[in-house]
Amino acid sequence: ATQKTFVMIKPDGVRRKLIGEIVGRIERKGLRIAAMKMVKIDRETANKLYEEHIGKSFFNELVSYITSGPVVCMVVEGDEAVRVMRTLIGATDPKEASPGTIRGDLALSKAENVIHASDAEEKAKREMSLFFSPNEITE
Ligand code: CMP
Repeated sequence: ATQKTFVMIKPDGVRRKLIGEIVGRIERKGLRIAAMKMVKIDRETANKLYEEHIGKSFFNELVSYITSGPVVCMVVEGDEAVRVMRTLIGATDPKEASPGTIRGDLALSKAENVIHASDAEEKAKREMSLFFSPNEITE
């Protein structure tokens, strides 16, 4: 079934000028970019986005990193988009990510792993709503 998922090119991806490469891979896969914007995440939004990681050893590092420069937020739509995007991006730790995946090909560091995609449809809805109002998402 058709789904929408939330995808974000993280600050290292933007700094390394990988926006075109990553958007190209998503489009070539056959998924549709339904919304897209570049923003600098503030601490309040970072805390909401990474709520589930509060208390973990890497939380402060994670917030510093994600607020360190602009990110590119997207809503990506297509058949089974949540699962398909997770497959495209590869494992969280780029050292384990398969060649051919975005992290497998473009990242090396677990902390700075160039891209985020929601891991479940409910999370996708929540994450999308942090960055997009319904009228910004095209049909
Ligand atoms: P993501 O899965 O998109 O969201 C949580 C992020 O936390 C994850 O990507 C990594 O960027 C980061 N992360 C996970 N584990 C670690 C770790 N051990 N050290 C630093 N950052 C981490």
